[in-house]
Amino acid sequence: RDRERVIECLAAVAWEANQPLRIETVTVAPPKAHEVRVKIHSTGVCHTDASTLWGRDPEGPGGLFPTILGHEGAGVVESVGDGVTNVKPGDHVIPLWLPQCGRCRACGKTNLCENVWKMMGKGCLLDGTSRFACGGRTLYHYMGTSTFSGYTVLPDVSVVKVGAVFCPGFALDIVSDALPISPSARLDRACLLGCGIPTGYGSALNTAKVVEGSSVAVWGLGTIGLAAVMGARKAKAKRIIGVDINPNKFQIGKKFGCTEFVNPNDHGDRPIQDVLADMTDGGLDFTFECIGNIHTMASLPRRRAALESLQKGWGVSTIVGVAGRGLEVSFPPFQLLLGRKWTGSFFGDYRGDDLPGLVEEYLKGELMVDEFVTQELQLDDINKAFDSLREGRGLRSVVTF
Ligand code: APR
Ligand code: ZN
Ligand code: ZN
Repeated sequence: RDRERVIECLAAVAWEANQPLRIETVTVAPPKAHEVRVKIHSTGVCHTDASTLWGRDPEGPGGLFPTILGHEGAGVVESVGDGVTNVKPGDHVIPLWLPQCGRCRACGKTNLCENVWKMMGKGCLLDGTSRFACGGRTLYHYMGTSTFSGYTVLPDVSVVKVGAVFCPGFALDIVSDALPISPSARLDRACLLGCGIPTGYGSALNTAKVVEGSSVAVWGLGTIGLAAVMGARKAKAKRIIGVDINPNKFQIGKKFGCTEFVNPNDHGDRPIQDVLADMTDGGLDFTFECIGNIHTMASLPRRRAALESLQKGWGVSTIVGVAGRGLEVSFPPFQLLLGRKWTGSFFGDYRGDDLPGLVEEYLKGELMVDEFVTQELQLDDINKAFDSLREGRGLRSVVTF
């Protein structure tokens, strides 16, 4: 029976930190109860994959190796274990690195499930074991997704079915090794809804809840920041100021909804919060830090950019970028005493159940996704995606299997 078969496929294996990924033939064991085996069609490469590979995880011991990285993928269910009811073979799915069990105290309030969280950091599935092996060695899972593999195994709560209802082309082709996945499915675009785009988009719409007519500033016009800009535009913000030290980002910023730009380097030693206060009659309604830099968040004296740029009384600043391990921010509490609000957003406050709606928005042309793809690669060239991240070139790289 299909679902009991061990599959051999190609995967990009991270044998150790700070070494290029190596393309290897790996074995992928069948799914156990409440697990799903997915044939990955494509995957984006996110900064978090790079942080782990480069030994800079913001939390924990700094990554478990050898492992198969990747958490921004899309694919098709190949087989399911006992008790799986949410998907069946042939379904198009997006793997979730932040799934919800739906039963715990946290799932009732947030997307930060207490149960599935525990497994992610341990590099294994919920039963504490791995389905991956290569050359006699067991490989760790990564973020519960490991999308840099031709096939991966996930808990059933970690896959969300997309497309079937909203886009017939997505779900019609039946998948087996003999039948390639239909290229019309555009899973090589939908994969980006697995991490970067919702992270920024939802920070504006769900976390900060940007309101119509408001003024917004976004620090860092990478994938995350541009998606936040897009969210602010969706919420009908009146002014959306992009703040970036790379003037080449201004062109693309406009495409996503920026109405103005500020390059801190054009203002010498003048604190950027003062520049913005002048532009906005005292401060902004909403700011977003999408770089992961503690100085633009709040910290360096005279450069407490995103927090201090807020209008006192009601401004809301949201941290979206991930700062490096061990770093801390400090600021005078008076900033908050005056009613500025400071918060953070994780995966844009989206839950897995929200993703089909985002796919629908994309298919209706209301959510830009294609525009984020600046490099398309085959698996063999996956290390080029990491080079691009290191050099700060482009937005997202999509790797297709
Ligand atoms: N001031 C303003 N802009 C800056 C600064 C700075 N001090 N430093 C960097 N930038 C700009 C860069 O020029 C770039 O345009 O921030 C942008 C960052 O974009 P990317 O590197 O493409 O990052 P992105 O993928 O959007 O992720 C941003 O979110 O997921 C996290 O770990 C990720 O913390 C990172 C952040
Ligand atoms: Zn990510
Ligand atoms: Zn839960």
